[in-house]
Amino acid sequence: MADQSAGRLRGRAVVVTGAGSGIGRAAALAFARAGAHVLGVGRRASALEDTAAQHPGIAVLAADICGGEQAARAIVDAVIERWGRLDVLVNNAGATAVMPLADTDAQRISDLFALNVTAPSLLAHAALPHLRAGHGAIVNISSTYGHRPLPGAAHYAASKAALEQLTRSWALELAADGIRVNALAPGPTESEALAAAGLPGSVVEQIKQDEVARIPLGRRGDPEEVATWIVHLADPAATWITGQVLTVDGGLELT
Ligand SMILES: NC(=O)c1ccc[n+]([C@@H]2O[C@H](COP(=O)([O-])OP(=O)(O)OC[C@H]3O[C@@H](n4cnc5c(N)ncnc54)[C@H](OP(=O)(O)O)[C@@H]3O)[C@@H](O)[C@H]2O)c1
Repeated sequence: MADQSAGRLRGRAVVVTGAGSGIGRAAALAFARAGAHVLGVGRRASALEDTAAQHPGIAVLAADICGGEQAARAIVDAVIERWGRLDVLVNNAGATAVMPLADTDAQRISDLFALNVTAPSLLAHAALPHLRAGHGAIVNISSTYGHRPLPGAAHYAASKAALEQLTRSWALELAADGIRVNALAPGPTESEALAAAGLPGSVVEQIKQDEVARIPLGRRGDPEEVATWIVHLADPAATWITGQVLTVDGGLELT
């Protein structure tokens, strides 16, 4: 299957946000191995360089995607200057937040939605003329909890539900342009996400143990197991798939 994608993605230009770690790094590598030109985006230049060092097909740009329209334009411009085209936007950068209602505050809600909802929207907006030109694709990275309730992290779940609804609405809005829009919803996957949420190591370990106990296949996922499906959703061969949310979570959503 990987070899078939390689042919079709060769020479295509792909943006992967959050490419300095976890699922984004694995996705950048998977696209590069399939022959695509990849621009990996994130805030930490050193983390991005570590990703780029793993494949010559990966270029990187250190940028904060929460920098509004200007940041989104700069990212898209960087791709066009390099490769003259933009075929695939992977809106992967995102964050989780443990925030029970009793501890909820306006700034944290606003920050979470700025990253998980507004930034992907502005990137898609900036990419749109180029996606139209090449009949490209958008892959938004949601979560099992984009369509399952998550007590204690309701706003994270709500931000991913918003991303899934954007996916379905954009799929219809852009279908006439030949642009496909899908979402990939991972379950608990090894990455920097829990540490990035500012949780202490002991709490992270407890969450991981609880997740393993709930996942029918009995383990957390590896980023590569998620990345392979991101590539398949973006693959031009997936010609008739749009507006879908593909859950890759060891069966967690069924519980
Ligand atoms: N791992 C899981 O269990 C899981 C489950 C379901 C869904 N997801 C989703 O999968 C996606 C990837 O997460 P991950 O698990 O791979 O976590 P991760 O390792 O924390 O990756 C998130 C990436 O986003 C980047 N990022 C964060 N804020 C940014 C900003 N303002 N501008 C640019 N880049 C930014 C981070 O790099 P910098 O800090 O350098 O900017 C980081 O590389 C997220 O959308 C997450 O919600 C993850």
